[in-house]
Amino acid sequence: MPIPKNLTRTWQESLEITRKGRATAIILNKVNTLSLSAKADLLKPSPTLAITAKANAMKAEGKDIVAFAAGEPDFATPEPICNAAIDALRAGFTKYTPSSGIKDLKDAIAAKLERENGVNVAPSQIVTSCGAKQSVYQSLQILVNPGDEVILIAPYWMTYAEQIRLAGGNPVVVHASAASGFVPTIEQLQAAISPKTKAIIINSPSNPTGAVLPKPTLEAIASLAVKHGFWVIADEIYERLIYDKQTHVSFATLSPEVAEQTITIGGCSKSYSMTGWRIGFAAAPAKVASALSNLQDQVTSNPTSFAQKGAVVAFNLPSETVEAMRAEFEERRNLIYQMLSDIPNLVVPKPSGAFYIFPDVSTYIGGKIKTDVDLAAYLLEEAMAATVPGSVFEGPGHLRLSYACSRADIEKGVSRIREALSRL
Ligand SMILES: Cc1ncc(COP(=O)(O)O)c(C=O)c1O
Repeated sequence: MPIPKNLTRTWQESLEITRKGRATAIILNKVNTLSLSAKADLLKPSPTLAITAKANAMKAEGKDIVAFAAGEPDFATPEPICNAAIDALRAGFTKYTPSSGIKDLKDAIAAKLERENGVNVAPSQIVTSCGAKQSVYQSLQILVNPGDEVILIAPYWMTYAEQIRLAGGNPVVVHASAASGFVPTIEQLQAAISPKTKAIIINSPSNPTGAVLPKPTLEAIASLAVKHGFWVIADEIYERLIYDKQTHVSFATLSPEVAEQTITIGGCSKSYSMTGWRIGFAAAPAKVASALSNLQDQVTSNPTSFAQKGAVVAFNLPSETVEAMRAEFEERRNLIYQMLSDIPNLVVPKPSGAFYIFPDVSTYIGGKIKTDVDLAAYLLEEAMAATVPGSVFEGPGHLRLSYACSRADIEKGVSRIREALSRL
């Protein structure tokens, strides 16, 4: 069908028409010119941030809210890290650095990856960034072509799906249930692979479930990745927060072949209580690291110079400092797991890592509470406890509770949740 002539007019032509008195043409044309990109239309506000904002507003009104919504440790950043950044500022270390990060930081990360994770990469294969979030984003940007598929294991951190779509890709979701400890079966993973599969994102320990994928599952994923030739983005940001004497398995250690297809993502936010510092990294095969660095050159350039100096100290910290925080999280995990398990009709998988617990609350959904979103809203009003609905993470019928808060808050908040649920 031929395009109607009035739809093909240029801006100048429209102006001309308007001058002649046909105002509608310019109005229509302006709408087209001033519309946002299709990418911008894809973006949704973060529900977690919205809940946190509502809980903060209630707090500001003087309400005694217990925050189980936050995704950040409540500890202060260890002092030696702060001192290093302050010293750097005082010494005038306030200028651009190489985009991918200063040598000291890349050396410290390479040494840490070898010492703690058994991952062998040269410092030149490391690109530091403004948080693991940026590292995942950039990885997807340099790997994914429009129409490519990226496999996600649900429940998953919702940022992954948004970032895949921003890269023009399509998330392909494998659902792992609470009954299976949020571990997918190999058959499920196999069924998700197609000729369009470009990558899989693995997040162990997981946000939002706290699940740690067992080594045999990781090995099976590694074999599939090598056999079918797709990339693995291994987001290991919670690697240091792991419980019950388990040890973290870094994906890139599973075989030399899979190491050539793996981007290991890490950072300072969760292990060293440095969420606001914005330091993360990607450790990747050389050609990937080079593409990541080229992209970052055009986006943010380097992460903040003096924050990098603090991060050098973080990655060299004696393990006792991190261990003290990890041990406290394990105590809190035990407490919240026990208390939630004692609530009638909740199914509570025991998390093995991170600082989240993801109970199945579906038996409390019904009547006036139609969804997990309604239940989270009810608990905020009635129990003054801020939780995040599981559907945010493609895990409907669940709630995510973060136990990055004091034991006293856990006791108070979960007691109130129990009481509020008993009234449903
Ligand atoms: C799974 C996961 N990856 C990455 C991040 C972001 O980490 P960063 O603060 O280093 O950007 C988060 C933060 O909540 C997360 O949960």
